[in-house]
Amino acid sequence: PGPPARRGCAEGRPPAFGFLFDIDGVLVRGSQVVPAAREAFRRLSDAGGRLRVPVVFLTNAGNCLREAKARELSQALGLQVSPEQVILSHSPLRLFSQFHPKCVLVAGQGPVEENARNLGFKHVVTIEALRKAYPLLDMVDQSRRPKELPPPTTDFPTIEGVVLFGEPVRWETSLQLIIDVLLSNGNPGAEPEGIPYPHLPVLACNMDLLWMAEAKMPRFGHGTFLLCLENIYKKVTGRELKYEALIGKPSTVTYHYAEYLIKEQAEKQGWKAPIRRLYAVGDNPMSDVYGANLYNNYLKSAQQNQVEAGVKRIPQAANPQTEDRVAVESCESILVC
Ligand code: G3P
Ligand code: MG
Repeated sequence: PGPPARRGCAEGRPPAFGFLFDIDGVLVRGSQVVPAAREAFRRLSDAGGRLRVPVVFLTNAGNCLREAKARELSQALGLQVSPEQVILSHSPLRLFSQFHPKCVLVAGQGPVEENARNLGFKHVVTIEALRKAYPLLDMVDQSRRPKELPPPTTDFPTIEGVVLFGEPVRWETSLQLIIDVLLSNGNPGAEPEGIPYPHLPVLACNMDLLWMAEAKMPRFGHGTFLLCLENIYKKVTGRELKYEALIGKPSTVTYHYAEYLIKEQAEKQGWKAPIRRLYAVGDNPMSDVYGANLYNNYLKSAQQNQVEAGVKRIPQAANPQTEDRVAVESCESILVC
């Protein structure tokens, strides 16, 4: 049979729902695009290739700029994706402005410094810069030991917080240096003076223990790295490593941000109907499914509080099944994968 007739939004009615699409394991596997994903987006687009509903790409990846991910997706899906449609694991950190003036150590992969500055952080130190300033700290790989003793660094800034974007490349180096920073209260070159506790604020993004790339079995994610860090900290200090914030899916703050971007997109398109529902498509039960349910419950209790406070409830769609048929039709090819 030919492609189904376009319905819903194509009939001139503005969309009352939006989509949150996970990327890895749903739209792509490593560098390979999932063929059903292209078809789903063809169905979600009009004849001119423009999306008929607001869409946000919600990934726990954080090793690139939003612009780069948007370019990658445009190419993979055959449509124009803008950076404003992409939420990386660390994107909501732009809302954490109280940390932006602090000097922070940022760990992860890819353009970590540029990402941190784009999010609003003013004073950024990378693991590499810290390693260069204090070359005696990184000793696991013997081949990286300095041949000659370097002169001591005296002008390195005191670190006031740690931001973990995603899994780094050399885990042993990052684990050692992050622990050093926490144990030295941000001055790993100084003489140790007991264990500072509470430790410096730690903001972590992407709790995925595992994720799907090209391999048949899932790969270690940043959640596995965090597990190592937490356990080392506990073993060394006897105390818990506590996060100031954990963001990325399944955290509510990430879904809040996604909803905000969906509504902003609908507004920019001039779609007048209020967005009443969000459909989240994902592959990770602990991240995508748990996160969507968590946000749903959060919204329900917020609505309940409003009703209790005497605020008028937003009327629900008359017939959501019919109204959202385009959504289900567009995604059923991905959902059965
Ligand atoms: O590092 C990427 C991974 O943890 C998950 O990506 O797109 O499935 O949220 P995604
Ligand atoms: Mg995924």
